[in-house]
Amino acid sequence: MMRKLFFTICLFGAVASQSQNKAALYPEKAETQISKHIYGHFAEHLGRCIYDGIYTGDNYNIPTTSGVRNDVIEALKNLNIPNLRWPGGCFADTYHWKDAIGPKDQRKPIENTSWGGREDNSFGTHEFLNLCELLDAEPYLAVNMNSGSVQEAVEWEQYVNNPNGSSHLTDLREKNGRSKPWDVKYWGIGNESWDCGGDMTADYYSNLYKRYAVAMTNYGNSDGLFRIAVGPGQADYEWTETIMKQVPARRIEGLSVHHYSVFNWSDKGSSYAFSEEEYFKTMKQAWFMEEFITKNSEVMDKYDQDKNVKLIVDEWGGWYETMPEGEGALYQQNTIRDAMIAGLTLNIFNNHADRVHMANLAQTVNVLQAVILTEKEKMILTPTYHVMEMYKVHQDAQLVPIELSADSFNMLDESIPAVSASASMDVSGKMHISLTNIDSKKAQSIVINLGSFTGKNVTGRVLTSEKVQDRNTFDQPEKVKPQPFNESKLSKGSLTVSLPKNSVVVLELSK
Ligand code: AHR
Repeated sequence: MMRKLFFTICLFGAVASQSQNKAALYPEKAETQISKHIYGHFAEHLGRCIYDGIYTGDNYNIPTTSGVRNDVIEALKNLNIPNLRWPGGCFADTYHWKDAIGPKDQRKPIENTSWGGREDNSFGTHEFLNLCELLDAEPYLAVNMNSGSVQEAVEWEQYVNNPNGSSHLTDLREKNGRSKPWDVKYWGIGNESWDCGGDMTADYYSNLYKRYAVAMTNYGNSDGLFRIAVGPGQADYEWTETIMKQVPARRIEGLSVHHYSVFNWSDKGSSYAFSEEEYFKTMKQAWFMEEFITKNSEVMDKYDQDKNVKLIVDEWGGWYETMPEGEGALYQQNTIRDAMIAGLTLNIFNNHADRVHMANLAQTVNVLQAVILTEKEKMILTPTYHVMEMYKVHQDAQLVPIELSADSFNMLDESIPAVSASASMDVSGKMHISLTNIDSKKAQSIVINLGSFTGKNVTGRVLTSEKVQDRNTFDQPEKVKPQPFNESKLSKGSLTVSLPKNSVVVLELSK
């Protein structure tokens, strides 16, 4: 109820004449956990994400663990990365897992028909699942539903999950150096099956999905299998309706949706040399996530009032024109604009924690809205990385419902809310409030009524920079990084915060 009120006000009540933002928190209604999996990532065999970005073998004179860059491992661990989706994306629907197991010199090189280049399959199932163990992240495997078969998917699952000695597949796993099953819980059945994953209709997909869902067995997996069906990648709520209507509740645990903040697919603009108008249009697309989740949830509610089937936003982020300097497919820079997308989107996911269980930022290293960029031996952390790091306090915390009345950010005769917010309470009783001010011209002040929370101390961090185009580069790797934030004041049960223009702020309140 509270949340509904929040969204109504936030999206449609942004009154132009209003000069101050107001929010009210309801700590006594903190009943929903924000799944840590909302803070997940996605790594595809695309451009320089896996090869060069994550896996370098012994190509460079840098420390690695089984060929994976230690600098990247450390950076991802520092985010408490909860899960990693792999091997695609579109690539997953051409991927045959058996090509990439066993001795490396006997693996089958293939052409990467989705993104170009020769794929030597030196990074395969063992390398990926061992990496997830190193990161202490849950693997999320995407099954090939287009050029693959039900049998191939079932065998993959047996190979990774079945206890030792159960079949020739577990014998093969042991021969390849792994005795214990990996116990993979998350399985995506297909990817964008309405496009690169087979150009199917929702009806056709539902029937095919059921064949996979029935055949995939839970091999003593401690927590049960989590099967994720393909949902829409645009405002096609009929697709959602068809899946929810046709797939019985016992055959589905999650429905995936994709949304990229792109203002024009035929000319996506530069990732760092963009105009104010392009910035505004990108922010408008980022805000669309709110409507997209709300509308998909409304359809799902009709068939699943108890919200057992979860929404999995397994691709999201900003997508711009690939940089021409030859850094690989879908390589782009990452600016304060991307930090705004991240802060705003994560607030939306937190506030929908009753339905959204997992989300995967596209993509981890060197592709799209990456958290990490690499150049041979060098590595830098992007503004988006810093937002994910600042927001990690929300992982598995209890969502504190918030009612927000936001000032508007106006351009091109349009207006969108300037401020977004979410809040949570952690196990030690500390409250965290994350706020974004996407307005690139104006600071915003907000008064937050803390309700029954009797906060005595407040500390905070801010991520901002003079221009929305500002970014970290290999020459200037720390231009954008979090700083201590002192512009918040507690007084008589309310908190007043002065948000700089284009800023992300995370506050910690203790009693
Ligand atoms: O993330 C890049 C691509 O975007 C993925 O491969 C595909 O699923 C989506 O269209």
